[in-house]
Amino acid sequence: MNMCIELARKGEGKTSPNPMVGCVVLNDKGEIISTGYHSKAGENHAERDALLKINPEDAKNGTLVVNLEPCSHYGKTPPCTDLIIEYGIKNVVIGMKDPNPEVDGITKLKQAGINVITGVLEKECEELNEVFIVNQTEKRTFVALKTAATLDGKIATSNGSSKWITSEDARAEGKNIRAKYDAILTSSKTVKADNPQMFHGKKIILDRTLSLSPDFEIFKQGECFVYHDERLRSPQNSNINYIKTPVKSGKLDIKFILGDLYEKGIMSVFVEAGGILNGSFLPYCDKIYNFVAPRILADDSAKNSFLGLTATCIDDAYQFRFVDVKRFESDVLCILKKI
Ligand SMILES: NC(=O)c1ccc[n+]([C@@H]2O[C@H](COP(=O)([O-])OP(=O)(O)OC[C@H]3O[C@@H](n4cnc5c(N)ncnc54)[C@H](OP(=O)(O)O)[C@@H]3O)[C@@H](O)[C@H]2O)c1
Repeated sequence: MNMCIELARKGEGKTSPNPMVGCVVLNDKGEIISTGYHSKAGENHAERDALLKINPEDAKNGTLVVNLEPCSHYGKTPPCTDLIIEYGIKNVVIGMKDPNPEVDGITKLKQAGINVITGVLEKECEELNEVFIVNQTEKRTFVALKTAATLDGKIATSNGSSKWITSEDARAEGKNIRAKYDAILTSSKTVKADNPQMFHGKKIILDRTLSLSPDFEIFKQGECFVYHDERLRSPQNSNINYIKTPVKSGKLDIKFILGDLYEKGIMSVFVEAGGILNGSFLPYCDKIYNFVAPRILADDSAKNSFLGLTATCIDDAYQFRFVDVKRFESDVLCILKKI
């Protein structure tokens, strides 16, 4: 199953809206005879990828291991369960059940007389497909947020100086993580402060007052979506998609934006902004990547990682749990998930 997870990760960033899946096939002697993975949405599922590389006779009475329950319905490709049955596989080992209610591969395999074992490395398999699980069970876009801060939680000095808080290694890792998500999201304020390129296929910019000119670096690459106050007229620009957005208490309505992203097929978003927008996204945040640099600004007027909320009691705090901590050259990356 560990091998399946590793194979599945080869498709990371390319399978959305589908899950990441890897598959290993063993013959009746327990020898590995084929592996496969889902490389991209629209391409073969992992089981099909692995099975089509071998002759059915070689797999007869063998075992198929896969991190997600095989599909039993017609999507872009025919059901994997049919191919598994056709190949005469005797045992199927599954990491986790498919959260898509349309899928009932386990029943179909059992009905065909196949021995099915489920829940192997289930927690690891669920972690691998955390985005897919949220998409399927809650019908919404998964929200991840990245921040790079000093030890005292500051992301810039009071005059906006922030280059660079963290080391080159940590920043490179930030870019790797960004590529895992369907889109990045930032604010007009951060665009104006840093004029970042933020290389990505899809970019979401929150610009309530339409204050950004298309000359900013961010607009020079990728598909850009600008969310702005619905009372303003959307500019005509063939390279930028403008979306009229309701405003609540003077702020763009994040719930509306997330709903619209889901409708557009953007299944995960990576927020990279300053403390004001980060604070607004906290209630919707599934995962946080918090880079911490060994510096202390100790300046009350420096900008915070998260802002805008009022708490009178420690229990008012948003609660997360640490899922991982990684070391870089000089920095630390804390990965947290919503409780
Ligand atoms: N170290 C890091 O990880 C990192 C990452 C990014 C940026 N930065 C730094 O952060 C600084 C900017 O941070 P900041 O806190 O001042 O600004 P910010 O959080 O980037 O942006 C805040 C602005 O976003 C707009 N916005 C749109 N919808 C919103 C909503 N629903 N809720 C809240 N705001 C919304 C608002 O502008 P409107 O009123 O116009 O709508 C608001 O003023 C820059 O200096 C940049 O260098 C650091």
